[in-house]
Amino acid sequence: MTNAPVIINAFGDIDFVFNTRYDFRDRFNGEPDYFANKGEQRGLLLDTNFVADAVNLPLISAKERGAGGGHIRFSMAKGCMNSHISQFGVGTYKKAHAHGPGAHVIVMSGEGFSLMWPEGAEPQRYEWKKGTMIVPPNLWFHQHFNTGTTPARYLAFKSEGVSIRNAQGVPKAWISRRLGGDQIDYADESPRVRQWFAEALATHGLTPRMDEAYALERADLPSRVPQTVP
Ligand SMILES: [Fe+2]
Repeated sequence: MTNAPVIINAFGDIDFVFNTRYDFRDRFNGEPDYFANKGEQRGLLLDTNFVADAVNLPLISAKERGAGGGHIRFSMAKGCMNSHISQFGVGTYKKAHAHGPGAHVIVMSGEGFSLMWPEGAEPQRYEWKKGTMIVPPNLWFHQHFNTGTTPARYLAFKSEGVSIRNAQGVPKAWISRRLGGDQIDYADESPRVRQWFAEALATHGLTPRMDEAYALERADLPSRVPQTVP
């Protein structure tokens, strides 16, 4: 994950970008414990500059993204490059959503596949395992499925501009399409999605464990809002 192209284009001077000796001391001033493996947890955010073991880091439960997976986010070195870890259980999959370009998703454990597609097109399927990196293109929907025998965990990096936010500042990728957001509820997905998932699980002798997630969604699923013409 790099912002080098943007910075190089902004200044248009390679020597300035690479050879300026200015130190940003408010961000790092040689503090001996700066890279210590500690950090204060505030909600879903872990305030730290270093994570020693991202594969085994304990996570926090997050319902909004579907299927009751674990989640934790980081804001390191007072930067604008956000990162988070998400985990989802055996036999489960996440809701599809879309956002801006530049999110990098690195699979740290588990195996499965992702569907990705631009609005109105057929979903394309991409298999993944530990070490795979997935980069959803601009405004393509993407949806991650755990088809393996262990929980699946990924680490995602993105710059702040990747999030498309509503007027209240909430990322639209977290809001139901029924409410004008960019997340597709389970109830609105194509029946083929569930069929593909069940078939992939069957190759490991597994069956979907999505009933609880579907029931939770039904409990507070927004009714469809009629489209208004501006
Ligand atoms: Fe995403």
